[in-house]
Amino acid sequence: MTQSHPKPREQWGTRLGLILAMTANAVGLGNFLRFPVQCVNNGGGAFMIPYFVAFLLLGIPLMWIEWGIGRFGGKYGHGTTPGMFHYLWKHPIAKYLGAVGLAVPFLLVIYYNYIVSWTLAYSVFSFTGKYFGVQNFQGMADFLSAYQGKTSNVYFPSIATAFLFFIITHFSMMWIISKGVSKGIERLAKIAMPLILVFGVFLVIRVIFLGTPDPKFPANNIANGFGFIWNPDFSILKQSKVWLAATGQIFFTLSVGFGAIQTYASYLTPKDDVVLSGLATCSANEFCEVILGGSIAIPVTVAFFGLTQTQKIAAGGAFDLGFFAMPVIFQKMAFGHLVGTIWFFLLFLAGLTSSVAMAQPLMAFFQEEFKWTRKMTARILGVMLFFFTLPVIFFLKHGFLNEIDFWIGTVGLVIFAIIELVLFIWVFGQENAWTEIHAGADIQLPRFFLPIVKYVTLIYLGVLLGFWMFQDGWGVLTMKGVPAADYPYIWFARFLLVGIGALMILLVHIAWRKKHIIQQRIPQ
Ligand code: ALA
Repeated sequence: MTQSHPKPREQWGTRLGLILAMTANAVGLGNFLRFPVQCVNNGGGAFMIPYFVAFLLLGIPLMWIEWGIGRFGGKYGHGTTPGMFHYLWKHPIAKYLGAVGLAVPFLLVIYYNYIVSWTLAYSVFSFTGKYFGVQNFQGMADFLSAYQGKTSNVYFPSIATAFLFFIITHFSMMWIISKGVSKGIERLAKIAMPLILVFGVFLVIRVIFLGTPDPKFPANNIANGFGFIWNPDFSILKQSKVWLAATGQIFFTLSVGFGAIQTYASYLTPKDDVVLSGLATCSANEFCEVILGGSIAIPVTVAFFGLTQTQKIAAGGAFDLGFFAMPVIFQKMAFGHLVGTIWFFLLFLAGLTSSVAMAQPLMAFFQEEFKWTRKMTARILGVMLFFFTLPVIFFLKHGFLNEIDFWIGTVGLVIFAIIELVLFIWVFGQENAWTEIHAGADIQLPRFFLPIVKYVTLIYLGVLLGFWMFQDGWGVLTMKGVPAADYPYIWFARFLLVGIGALMILLVHIAWRKKHIIQQRIPQ
C-alpha cells in the first residue's frame, strides 16, 4: 500500500509579507485608542519610562520567545501551543498547558472583533454624516449607547445596525482566514499596513496644521496638545498603578501572551531569521503607537476642547475619546466627513488585521490536529465565534465584555506569558532556547540577554501578576461596584471563561487520543 504524504504546511510568501503580517498582528485599536489614553491618565511623558522599561524587559524578550517557540513548533507540523509545548516538554501535561494558548485568543477575539465592527460602522457614519448634528459629548455618548443597544433613540431604535456591522466584520475576518496564510492573511497585511501608515501620516499632518482652531481660546492649540501628552509628571512614578498600566499596554499592543504570534511564526521555515524580524516587528509597532497613535486623538482633543475637558474625557476610558470626542471634532473641522471616515477606517483596518491573527490559532489547531480541511474549519470556527460573540453583544450593558477583558485581556496574558517563558527557558533549557532563537538569525544577541529573560523577566511577570490580583483582582472577583442586577451576567461570563478553557482542554485531549490510535495502527 502506498502511503500518502502529508500536505506540506503553509508558509509566508515573502519576508516582507511576513513582517507586515506580524506588524499587522500587533498594530490594532490598542495603538490608536488605548495608548494615548493610558499615557494621559498615567503621567504623560513620565508614562514612557515604565512603558519603555516594560518594552525592553518584557515586550521584546517575549516577542523573541514567541517567535522562537512558534518556528520550533512549525518544524514538527504544529501551529498552536498544545503541539509546541508537547515538543518543548515531553510530559503528558504539556499539551494541556498549551490549551491556554487556544482559549486566550478565542476569548479575546469574541469581544475584540465586536469592537472592531463599531469602527467600521463609525467610518460609514462619518461618510454619510449620520452623527453630524450631535455636537457634544453627552450627545455622542447617547449615540454610542443607542448604537450598542444599551438604550434606544431616534438614531438607533434597536441594536440591529450594530448587529449588521458585526456580521459584516465577522464575515470579512472569516473570509480572509479561509483563504489561507499567504493568500489571505499576508495579502491583507500587504494592503492594510501601507494604508494604515498612509492614513496615519495623513491624520498626523492634518492635526499638526490645526494650529489654534478657535482664536477665542488661544490656550487650546495643537502645541499645548502635544505638550499635554508628553510633559512628564515624574511624581506619578511612585504609584504602582502607573507601572501596571504601562506593562499592560505593552502586552496588549505587541499582542504578546495572546497565543497568536506563535501561530504566525510557525509558518516560518527553519532557516528564517527570528531575531531581527522580531525586533523589526516591535519597532514598527512602536512607530505606529508612539509616533502616530500619540499624535492624533489627544492633541486634537486638547486643541478643540482644552486640557481640563480632555483629561475628563480620557479618564472616562479608551473609547470615550475615540467614539465621543473625535466625532464632535470632525464636525468642527474642514473636510470633517473625510477625516472622520479615514480615522475610523484606519481603526477598522488595524483592528481587523489583529482579529484575524487572534482567530488563526483555532484555524491552525483544527486543520492540523483534527485534519479538517481549511474550508470546513473556517465554516465551523465561523459558527463557533459567531455564537460565542452573541452574549458579548447582547449583555454589553451588564458588564459582560469588561469581565472577560479583565480576566483574559489583562490577567490571562500574563499567566500565559509565564507558562511559555518557564517552558522555553527553564524546561526546554536556556541553551536550547538560545540555539533555537539564533538558528538562521541575521544578528546575534548579547549573552547577558539570557539571565535577563531567565530571572528578570520572569520575576517582573510574577510581581506584576501579584500586584494585579492584589490591586484590582479582588475587587473584580467580589464584583465591587457591580449592580446586583448584573450579577447573573457576570457569573455567566465567568462560566463561559471556565467553559471555554475546559472545552479547549477536551479538544486537545481528543486530538491526542486520535493521534495515538492512528500511530498504533501504522504497521512498524
Ligand atoms: N495588539 C492589538 C492591539 O493593539 C491587539 O489592538
